[in-house]
Amino acid sequence: MTSKRAMAQLLKHLAGAGITHLPKVNLPKPSRILARQQESREEAAISTSAIPETVSTAAESKPLRPAIRPRLASAETEGRRPSQSGTSKEELLSETGPPDRLPDLQAILSRSYVDAEQKTEALCKVATMVAGCSRCTDLASKRTKTVFGVGSPTAEIMFIGEAPGAEEDAKGEPFVGPAGQLLNKIIDASKLKREDIYICNILRCRPPGNRNPLPQEASNCREFLDAQIHIVQPKYIVCWGTVAAQNLLNKTEAVGKLRGQLFDYNGIKVMCTYHPSYLLRNPAAKKQVWEDMKFFMKHLGVELQ
Ligand code: URA
Repeated sequence: MTSKRAMAQLLKHLAGAGITHLPKVNLPKPSRILARQQESREEAAISTSAIPETVSTAAESKPLRPAIRPRLASAETEGRRPSQSGTSKEELLSETGPPDRLPDLQAILSRSYVDAEQKTEALCKVATMVAGCSRCTDLASKRTKTVFGVGSPTAEIMFIGEAPGAEEDAKGEPFVGPAGQLLNKIIDASKLKREDIYICNILRCRPPGNRNPLPQEASNCREFLDAQIHIVQPKYIVCWGTVAAQNLLNKTEAVGKLRGQLFDYNGIKVMCTYHPSYLLRNPAAKKQVWEDMKFFMKHLGVELQ
């Protein structure tokens, strides 16, 4: 394969995994990464066909891990609008607990990733798994694209939102709709660069009608988030909105009660603030978000006015 063609193919593959910016490091020849990805896809195909029950949908699978407390978000401080009907009793009762862990993801979680090359390669593998995921049958059948994550694989700061909306579902990239435009303004005002941050969500598929993620859906998607955090290994995480804050930190309080402090999550400092979609509906809360960003940036040694 010519190096130009290999490079074009690699860039397409990386973009699919949300990696549009790479830090300035000596990356290996594209053909090497592609060859390794081909190998890992073949390995994945072999391992998943050998153990079909381990990749069954949540509804079919028996939980291996103890069931975790369902996490519910309060509509009042939600990033997105509550669904017309809200979460029905049947939906909540249909919970089956966390799904069996994907063996390939377990392998990813058991290794550490030190440089951009290793992190990029691991993120690509996880993005491929996400693209084929159908644990949440409803979401998987309705999605246009999975929305994995975007940004630097070596980012020191990770942003976690709630779930893709219509624009994100169409484009396959988080925070590209109206909430994303507001988020970009917050990033600029905070003297950060979007491409230096790693951005992802609690869910990787759009909930129909932008309803809140169900606890079971968040649980199904959790190991992908865990893998992204494990690979990128950020120093800081910002949780945008109640859904992100409650799910990551396993809390029940709304974001209004969780903001204004830094939490520790496995050695990573976590700040919680209101979701940009909430700000679009309640512009008065921008003041609090700006206070939160000042507080956060101060920890990074940057004084905002
Ligand atoms: N809201 C989110 O929480 N995430 C997105 O990616 C877009 C909107």
